[in-house]
Amino acid sequence: MGKMSKLELVMAALDARERAVAPYSKFKVGAALLTSEGEVITGANVESASYGLTCCAERVALFKALTEGRSHFKAIAVVAPMKPAPMPCGACRQLLAEYAPKAVVWTADSRSPRKIREFTVSELLPSAFLEVPQ
Ligand code: THU
Repeated sequence: MGKMSKLELVMAALDARERAVAPYSKFKVGAALLTSEGEVITGANVESASYGLTCCAERVALFKALTEGRSHFKAIAVVAPMKPAPMPCGACRQLLAEYAPKAVVWTADSRSPRKIREFTVSELLPSAFLEVPQ
């Protein structure tokens, strides 16, 4: 895997978005995680008839990566058709803070994927709860 650019990671998220399973909201979201090895692991949202069971694209990508043994992440790209760009929900921010704390978060409107916004995980979730006191 060669060096991935920001736009290439966004393109991978766009491709993953096509595989979203969102029959209820019809709102398809795609995500792509870049590992420290330069590998890309994608995800898309999956909805349930029991709505609350829905899993966001970001968490699908993160859970796939973690359970395939990847644990160091450089970036995550998230795309969906909204202006100016989709923002990870609170639950996904928590999991990113725990498992991808150093990742840069790139978000873009899937209809204008070259306009990429950039955030850090810690600015999205300051003062995160990161461990259970023993
Ligand atoms: N969704 C995501 O996949 N990621 C986000 O960052 C925001 C919301 C999904 C969940 C649900 O399937 C749909 O978007 C509408 O909330």
